[in-house]
Amino acid sequence: MYLKSLGLEHFRCYDRLDIDFGPGLHILVGGNAGGKTSILEAIYLLASTKSHRTAQDRQLIQWEHDWARAGGQFETGAAGSVSLRVTLRNGKSATNTDGPAKIVEVNSVPRRRFSDIIGQAAVVLFGPDDLSLIKGSPRVRRRFLNAGISQVRSAYVDDLMRHRRALRQRNECLKRHASERSQAEILCAWDSQLVESAASVSQAREEFVQDLGRHVRTIHQALSADQEEIEIAYDSDLGKAVGRSEKRDMMRELLERSFDRDVALGRTSRGPHRDEIDVTIGGQSVRSFGSQGQQRTAALALTLAQAQVIEEWRREAPILLLDDCLSELDEARARKVLELTQSVQQVIVTTASWDRLLEEYSSGARVFDVSHGTVQERGADAG
Ligand SMILES: Nc1ncnc2c1ncn2[C@@H]1O[C@H](COP(=O)(O)OP(=O)(O)OP(=O)(O)O)[C@@H](O)[C@H]1O
Ligand SMILES: [Mg+2]
Repeated sequence: MYLKSLGLEHFRCYDRLDIDFGPGLHILVGGNAGGKTSILEAIYLLASTKSHRTAQDRQLIQWEHDWARAGGQFETGAAGSVSLRVTLRNGKSATNTDGPAKIVEVNSVPRRRFSDIIGQAAVVLFGPDDLSLIKGSPRVRRRFLNAGISQVRSAYVDDLMRHRRALRQRNECLKRHASERSQAEILCAWDSQLVESAASVSQAREEFVQDLGRHVRTIHQALSADQEEIEIAYDSDLGKAVGRSEKRDMMRELLERSFDRDVALGRTSRGPHRDEIDVTIGGQSVRSFGSQGQQRTAALALTLAQAQVIEEWRREAPILLLDDCLSELDEARARKVLELTQSVQQVIVTTASWDRLLEEYSSGARVFDVSHGTVQERGADAG
């Protein structure tokens, strides 16, 4: 799969931008604040409906404007040509409760269901903040899993939404339960939805982590000088139950057993909303004991492994976006990353500093100079 063209209007620092891309390696080069990450952010937004660096959609709208638009034409193996467009408009919105109105179009038809949109294009991004994949809270790793699985199973997007809603409603009921006994019945109604969706979410995560583990070991070995093996494990309240039906039973049992505690806490204390991925090297937690370099390599290996699992499940590689990550690695590792990505149909990397390695790779790549919200392809006609 690859992005063929990208169009931006009033998006971040871009007043207007139209770029053509193609298969292969693309290098976006330019000084700080030139607008490199904003391009990757727009591509990520098209694939996922969200920015990778902010939860606040209004930050994407160019200052002193009240709307923004990003559009992209994707070429996919399975569905042919797909055009995606996201429009953000300042003002009150019913759909995007605390942000601007957001309209997502697939082939010019507005879509409301996330499961109709997410996964149309598959994109994996690795950026400077992604060290938090190791160092951050479990929530970051759950988000990583959600982003990956959503791109391969559209049912997961619906399961996840159902799970969030059931959890939120159950928690609200729990808060009122102490004062109103009648809430117990409503609680039961949410319990059955929570049990169903929790089992589906957990089952999908378990399968994904299993595949991820296989790929992450090979990639990590290629990237690191470590003799010791990286291991990842799905750590979940439902982890001991095998298969969806056992997970369902286990979730029901957990809700029953923790009922009194949940009422006292005013929230649900057990379930996949507490899921975690444990990442260890030589049996030791990378989060607690890994060096900065080990953590960075582990985070990068996880992301590249995610791309490979997506490729395996979709039978097509996702678009790989590498934001300023090569300069953080020593030359041998950076070279390995570029070697590993050779089989991916489209890779877009950004860099603020041009070096020997990129010089070497640039002959087989398209290079774009990015500065002050303008983009110029090297070797292309300036006219
Ligand atoms: N909503 C907005 N409207 C206008 N400009 C914005 C908006 N949001 C961010 N900017 C500006 O866009 C510029 C480009 O940011 P971006 O993060 O894309 O740069 P970059 O090339 O990735 O830089 P770096 O190399 O430092 O990571 C910055 O100067 C930033 O202040
Ligand atoms: Mg940047």
